[in-house]
Amino acid sequence: MNDFLKVAIEIAREAGAILRDGFDRPKKITYKGEVDLVTESDRRSEELVVARIQKQFPDHGIVAEEGARTAGCTKYCWHVDPLDGTTNFAHGYPCFAVSIGLVEDGEPIVGVVLNPVANELFTAVRGEGAFLNEHRIRVSPVEKLAHSLVATGFPTHLRKKSSNMEYYWQFTLRTHGVRRDGSAALDLCSVACGRFDAYWEFGLSSWDTAAGVLLVKEAGGMVTDLAGQPYRLGGPSLIATNGHIHGELQEVAGGIAERVAKDE
Ligand code: IPD
Ligand code: CA
Ligand code: CA
Repeated sequence: MNDFLKVAIEIAREAGAILRDGFDRPKKITYKGEVDLVTESDRRSEELVVARIQKQFPDHGIVAEEGARTAGCTKYCWHVDPLDGTTNFAHGYPCFAVSIGLVEDGEPIVGVVLNPVANELFTAVRGEGAFLNEHRIRVSPVEKLAHSLVATGFPTHLRKKSSNMEYYWQFTLRTHGVRRDGSAALDLCSVACGRFDAYWEFGLSSWDTAAGVLLVKEAGGMVTDLAGQPYRLGGPSLIATNGHIHGELQEVAGGIAERVAKDE
């Protein structure tokens, strides 16, 4: 097995145990913003992941959500969300994950996402396919937006300024439904394994998506920005699909973007 993947899985398992343990206990919640929650488990998980990466790969960079940053750019950089789906976690909704992505010169090369409650481990290495609990996964074969189940999410910061409600409404009218599950990393994994046919969101950070976008690509899907350009980590918009409905979804999204821009 790829050495980076092996280490990333070990670390995700350890962090997952921390999250699993914290999930069963009363939560200590503090606020980063109006509805942007953070728990003790976010911090404990991040401390563990960062310490383990630094021990194994002292010359690699790290960007993690709760503040861990190494100085300067390095060839290899780990993008870590120690707990993606904090709001779900805080409310006892078992849809959350630890997400660990290794990026080489800006391109994700290893991705690991673990939902410790469902015990679902999603893994991918560039060029080697995507896996769920060691079984190969592929995106869905659905060919029409009208036959698809799609997902989105809403940022906790700037939520009053988000125009995503309009996209949510328009895609509700054109699909079998739009889910809002509260974990960007797991939403991407759900596209990778064919549970969702597409997922879009605005304003995501590199730690939300570094692992998940690799999972989608390695499962045969497509990931771009709203304009159809290659998705850039931390970029303003992301569309991830099974590939078949990418053009259709992007066209509809483009029309909504024009209308939203006129109304602003
Ligand atoms: C959030 C989740 C959510 C998405 C938000 C993210 P967090 O991450 O991924 O699904 O809609 O944009 O910020 O705060 O739970 O790590
Ligand atoms: Ca996140
Ligand atoms: Ca998080």
